[in-house]
Amino acid sequence: MDVSLYKSLKRNLPYSPSTVICFPAPSGAAGPNLRQRQGSQARVFRRWMATTRPILKMSLLCQKMSAFSLGSYGWPVMGETVEYLKDMHAFALERMSKHGNVFKSHIFGFKTVVVCSTEALNEISRLEAAGSIVTWPMMPGLKVFGEGNLAVLNGDEHANMRKLLHSVFSRGSVLSSVPFIFNTAKEICAEFEGQEHFSMAELARKYAFKVSTKSFLGMEFPSRVDNEVIQILEVLGEGVFTLGIDLPLTKFHRAMKSRCEMIDVIKESLKAMDSISPEDGRPATALEQMLDARDEGGNGLEMEALINTIILLVYGGYETTSATMECILRKLALNPKAWDRLREEQHRVVEIYGDDITCESLEAMVYARAVVKEGLRVQTALPFSYKWAKESFELEGYRIPANWQVVCGSGFITQHLCGSDSWNDHDAYRPERFLDPRTDKLSSFRPFGHGRHICLGKELALTELWVMLALLARRYEVTLKNLHAHIKPYPTPHAEDGCMATLRELHAAWS
Ligand code: HEM
Repeated sequence: MDVSLYKSLKRNLPYSPSTVICFPAPSGAAGPNLRQRQGSQARVFRRWMATTRPILKMSLLCQKMSAFSLGSYGWPVMGETVEYLKDMHAFALERMSKHGNVFKSHIFGFKTVVVCSTEALNEISRLEAAGSIVTWPMMPGLKVFGEGNLAVLNGDEHANMRKLLHSVFSRGSVLSSVPFIFNTAKEICAEFEGQEHFSMAELARKYAFKVSTKSFLGMEFPSRVDNEVIQILEVLGEGVFTLGIDLPLTKFHRAMKSRCEMIDVIKESLKAMDSISPEDGRPATALEQMLDARDEGGNGLEMEALINTIILLVYGGYETTSATMECILRKLALNPKAWDRLREEQHRVVEIYGDDITCESLEAMVYARAVVKEGLRVQTALPFSYKWAKESFELEGYRIPANWQVVCGSGFITQHLCGSDSWNDHDAYRPERFLDPRTDKLSSFRPFGHGRHICLGKELALTELWVMLALLARRYEVTLKNLHAHIKPYPTPHAEDGCMATLRELHAAWS
């Protein structure tokens, strides 16, 4: 076929890159392009286009609706799981360049559609609300969180539990915890301050763990020190991105053992809470609110589901937030001007609001907020989430069969700014982009996921990152040993060397 004709058809028709258009052209259609054609030759060409275009459109549509052909299933049994786990971003980018934003694959033993555009993800949210798509622990490693936890529930069961937990995790509830979060940040920094070289990853983990468990949920661990519980969570997390085969010596087996230990820790914590007599005026902790929460019918959370949800909350909150904190500090180390701007902002805020970090002073930290958001963007802790097609559905003109896994790239599109309203400088670290008021409506910014299962701890995560960043900027000079450490992607991205750092107090700046 004439190349110029092929190109003009490509421009005018709904076209998928993998679809090969192949049909005989009339003799008058071949040769020079339309602008060069004159008189009768052009008339023949136009008539030919007018008759063939609808046929072509129909045939392309039928092809799309009948079989979802974009992408490949990879190897028998394993499919493309290994390539996917090796580097999720490279995996998706490579296939998107060949097939577009929606393509098929075979991951974790299931036929899969991978979805990487804001528009298609909106459609997934709509289908999820209608019940055609549900969440499901398709990733076998998610068994470490147990049955009945919030993340694996669907429909009314999920809606009911979210409703019970809503007020506990609301913005108002999180903001009322700001003084506790600030105290935790100060304690943790004091612990590491002045050490020659320590692991910033450890500081971030300890902080995120303490905030979720103690400052926010109000948990106590009577017979364990924090590090022991963190160690249990670490081993549990190693089992998430595995094939979920419970054989001795496997990561998954060790993770399941840690799960049992974690259940004991939580039971002990609940027991300790029971034995504390309620002090007058003491606000109920988030954990107490979770235990007391009742729906209209007077039903509370079942104990097994509650314990499994606490495991999810403690692990989810700790792992993702610490990975983001570490990423923010790595990026700042490479961008000293951003540090300077943060410090200047903190100087102004302290002058107006004093030394404490409060809800009011947080609101004034506009640049710190932008730095947190850019940190959430440049390295999303969870690039993909996993759902399941309960019934067949249509997406971008293709029919996706029932029982397929649906891998949703909300974090992925956040990082790569894939959206009609995004910038095209996704590789650049530029917190300033989030000073633009339009960014609040940016449809591709979804580090916390999308739809019904959007992150429950979003407000808590944003606030704790904001508080720690503000404290570091106003009191400390943070120096990282290796600015270009290799990043280990699982279970969430962390520097392989533990992100070695020093923390020196900036007395002069604040005296
Ligand atoms: C920077 C920090 C965090 C990031 C990037 C993050 C990200 C996410 C993402 C992407 C999801 C899946 C959403 C989906 O399926 O579309 C999720 C779910 C969830 N997150 Fe977070 N998260 C963070 C912090 C937290 C914290 C601090 C908590 C609680 C202490 C938390 C609790 C949860 C829970 C319970 C779910 C499941 C919600 C449901 O299924 O209804 N997360 N998070």
